[in-house]
Amino acid sequence: MHFGHGTDNARDEAAEIVFFAAGLEHALGVCAYAKILTAARRARIDALLERRIALRIPLAYLTRRSFFAGLELYVDARVLVPRSPIAELVLQRFAPWINPRRVRRILDVGTGSGAIALACAVAFPKARVDAVDVSVAALQVARRNQRRLGLQKRVRILRSDYFAAVGDCRYDIIVSNPPYVGRAEMRALPREYRHEPRLGLASGADGLNAVRAIFAAARRHLTRDGILVVEVGNTECTLLRTFPTMPFIWPDIGMGGGGVFLLRAEDLD
Ligand SMILES: C[S@@+](CC[C@H](N)C(=O)[O-])C[C@H]1O[C@@H](n2cnc3c(N)ncnc32)[C@H](O)[C@@H]1O
Repeated sequence: MHFGHGTDNARDEAAEIVFFAAGLEHALGVCAYAKILTAARRARIDALLERRIALRIPLAYLTRRSFFAGLELYVDARVLVPRSPIAELVLQRFAPWINPRRVRRILDVGTGSGAIALACAVAFPKARVDAVDVSVAALQVARRNQRRLGLQKRVRILRSDYFAAVGDCRYDIIVSNPPYVGRAEMRALPREYRHEPRLGLASGADGLNAVRAIFAAARRHLTRDGILVVEVGNTECTLLRTFPTMPFIWPDIGMGGGGVFLLRAEDLD
């Protein structure tokens, strides 16, 4: 078994299986332990466990839900299971790297389920957010989440190959969790990841194709004081070798995970 889709251990996944199958809110915490499970709910738990273990399907695809930055999102195999450490930076409103009160426009490149874009819209209630993805299937899921959260007015969801569809729009924050898995690493991924869309993971021989495309265009879509925030996970070392002179900032992520860099607009000149 591999745990890498929003939890990093068996115990947390077991809790999510039980709470989901028993129809309990996680907010109940240990109070839930006093509840008696009916035979039908036990059977539901067993069935979920069996599918999770036998087929190695990420749990979120079985429950069709995922939690991100305090939001409950609908997910299925059309999108990567949301798990980006960028959630923590969104909750901190990207402070201290930008003044949150001055943020008017945000772009999420490769939005998948819409997780980062929608969390940004909640964190910045006065901002307009554009969410782009090249995958039509992923955008269907993003729209479903947008409707569930009632964010149709401030979030615009567009099909776009990177920045192609945003015209000459400029943003205070461009954020992205792009595909960043290199060819060798793709071959070695645990079975769970094979259930996810390849388009959400694979990014050329060294894993940096998407990052290169973002670097090529981000500057002309950032405002003067804008910032670019990108997750590269464990492709961080390859990135540092490939771009040795770029002044990357690597924010500390308290909830765990890492591999998220930040650049100011002027650094991209
Ligand atoms: C790692 S997933 C991240 C999804 C979501 N942002 C999240 O954090 O859960 C990368 C996303 O980038 C999208 N993508 C891949 N190539 C793209 C391209 N050329 N232009 C726009 N989006 C792209 C994929 O379809 C996928 O949804």
